Amino acid sequence: MAKDWTPSSWRAKPVLQVPDYPDPVVLAETETRLASFPPLVFAGEARKLTRSLGEVAEGRAFLLQGGDCAESFAEHGADNIRDFFRAFLQMAVILTFASAQPVVKVGRIAGQFAKPRSSNSETKNGETLPAYRGDIINGIEFDAASRIPDPNRQVMAYRQSAATLNLLRAFAQGGYANLENVHQWMLGFVAGSPQAERFVAIADRISETMAFMRAVGIDAENHPSLRETDFFTSHEALLLGYEEALTRVDSTSGDWYATSGHMIWIGDRTRQLDHGHVEFCRGIHNPLGLKCGPTSDPDDLIRLIDRLNPQNKAGRLTLITRFGHERVEECLPKLIRAVEREGKKVVWSCDPMHGNTITLNRYKTRPFERILAEVQAFFDVHRAEGTHPGGIHVEMTGKDVTECTGGARPILAEDLSDRYHTHCDPRLNANQALELAFLVAELLKQDREASSEPKRQIAG
Ligand code: TRP
Ligand code: MN
Repeated sequence: MAKDWTPSSWRAKPVLQVPDYPDPVVLAETETRLASFPPLVFAGEARKLTRSLGEVAEGRAFLLQGGDCAESFAEHGADNIRDFFRAFLQMAVILTFASAQPVVKVGRIAGQFAKPRSSNSETKNGETLPAYRGDIINGIEFDAASRIPDPNRQVMAYRQSAATLNLLRAFAQGGYANLENVHQWMLGFVAGSPQAERFVAIADRISETMAFMRAVGIDAENHPSLRETDFFTSHEALLLGYEEALTRVDSTSGDWYATSGHMIWIGDRTRQLDHGHVEFCRGIHNPLGLKCGPTSDPDDLIRLIDRLNPQNKAGRLTLITRFGHERVEECLPKLIRAVEREGKKVVWSCDPMHGNTITLNRYKTRPFERILAEVQAFFDVHRAEGTHPGGIHVEMTGKDVTECTGGARPILAEDLSDRYHTHCDPRLNANQALELAFLVAELLKQDREASSEPKRQIAG
């Protein structure tokens, strides 16, 4: 048990990015109500995810984490959830095959509602209002009433998370995630892709493998592992009052768990060692993510790791790096070297989204080439350092949106206005997400071939 920690000990620390609610009494009542609601996830599941991530930390598995930048109340429909899951599973199949390792599947979903902002206010046509902070806090509409933080939104976010998680559990365990289905969807994607020639080699080999398995009697009827998958949820633990209300003691272990999601992470803007977000996270037993950016200093990082994972347990901590495509070579090696020097067990995951945001035609966007370049640089650096490029963390949707430019079916600057729906950052659309998976597959395959090269005997 963490020393001098309680679910509310963060309240004595400085806390950034959490709004002032106009009515503290209503806020406190809402938090009390939330604290009486059932947990969304179960501690045993969080422990299972820690074990799976431990495999990633040891270099024996790969992490795929992805979903919306911000979930919204307006876009809560079965189709959105299904289409996201469908794209995500296809990515997972491609990555599983290419890495020849289990892929740990973690959605940015069923709780990803609160957003850190670089500015506290937003000005439009001469009018200045408080910034939008995610549907769990205030409304995106640009009017004064919408921008007032409303505690009742926390209850709505909780209920939406429960409904989303319910459908995802049904999909993951109820037959929808059957490998045969996912494989067929993937073939459909490849056939329609302008990059088909490039992807067809991997796709054909997956088809042959599936046919072989069927021929020897390994099919979804007699092997549940082929028709089911473990899918976990995650979000940024930003709104600490909400997180605290959903923090519960696990009766099996006596440990505290955040039950708002399986994994939670600390953002790049709230990772100060002595602040509330680090304080809250250190005491819960879920697997944690920590975003690292260009301002992450190696010594600070080691202190944060000691605070968040004092037992140095593999799988407890995932470092999610987001430098921007041009800064990976400059920023990542020194963090890796500090972690290696201190013998810390971490998962290294690449967020190629957040360091590559630009503005084009007044739209926030991300060029697909830069996203790929960051992933490529991440793999290159890990290869050079001899460490495991453990995973990727992406903002994506299953829909055909036009938010990031580029891709094989290129989205141009002038297309951005067509279907730009995100409530926060630009996401990869389904095609771009799958294309990214194929490109990561090529990198994984190269790594696998490099590591299986026979070691040359030293003569004498
Ligand atoms: N259960 C395995 C896994 O999750 C195989 C599997 C079943 C799978 N359905 C899947 C893999 C969908 C990826 C996507 O890895
Ligand atoms: Mn984002």
